[in-house]
Amino acid sequence: MTSRTDVAAFAPAKINLFLHVGEKRSDGFHDLESLVVFADIGDTLTFSPSSELTLTLEGRFAQRLGAEDDNLVLRAARALAKRVGRPATAAIRLTKELPVASGIGGGSADAAAVLRGLTRLWELDLSWAELRAVAKTIGSDVPVCVESKSSWMEGRGERVTAASALPLISMLLVNPGIAVSTADVFRGLTSRHGTDTISRTLPLSLPRELIAFLKSTSNDLQAPAQRIAPAIGVVLDELSRMPGAELWRMSGSGATCFALFEDQDSTEMAEIALSRTHPDWWVKATRIVS
Ligand code: C5P
Repeated sequence: MTSRTDVAAFAPAKINLFLHVGEKRSDGFHDLESLVVFADIGDTLTFSPSSELTLTLEGRFAQRLGAEDDNLVLRAARALAKRVGRPATAAIRLTKELPVASGIGGGSADAAAVLRGLTRLWELDLSWAELRAVAKTIGSDVPVCVESKSSWMEGRGERVTAASALPLISMLLVNPGIAVSTADVFRGLTSRHGTDTISRTLPLSLPRELIAFLKSTSNDLQAPAQRIAPAIGVVLDELSRMPGAELWRMSGSGATCFALFEDQDSTEMAEIALSRTHPDWWVKATRIVS
């Protein structure tokens, strides 16, 4: 049941259109350079007043996630409460529609949505920059998810700059049902592009401009992730064969892969085809939102 004081927040899927890895820093994290966009699908959260902090899970992937204390949702609530010096009290309901540990920021997007939702529930006065500062204490991908807008991401993930307008391009997301550990994928890195190699002045507002640019980039984490989970190679192979697919690649540290398509019809045809041939895969037609 919802009351007038309830707050809702959407946690859209995050996609790394490319991801270049640089040096390992003294804090153990790698420098990154990435163009991050958001989809029109994601998890949803609601927040209600309560005298304690509780988390209820539902949705397709709820069982893959425990409501344990280290859950990113609860960690985000506690981090925000600590930042503003108030008790972390709210009844949070998470409808988990994105696969867990899958490179499309499910947990990070949820944590960022908690920061936005509780800012409203608790009537806090915090800027985006202040929320990003809390976000970076939760995980590398959380700051970019705070505003959930197309962004260049650098540093360990904490430096976020708005990207110029990108096309509303159709995209298919495919996860073969395998969760891969981000730390393991980084440990398996053998070659990388390095950072500061990208020109940010190229025009990217037309589909063909964006695709041409992306073809000059890569996801450096794809090869190590594929060694850990060979199913990623099978997904990419299938995506490459879909009529109308212009570019296919893994997102984040995997295992979710995406393909960009020339139009929405071919994206939906590919969704139907792959759902039929691989009923155990998570297959979703979506698009980049601006
Ligand atoms: O920040 P997050 O918890 O997502 O990172 C998980 C792990 O991935 C880190 O402990 C680290 O091993 C690796 N990582 C990294 N460089 C980054 C982000 C993550 O080495 N920029």
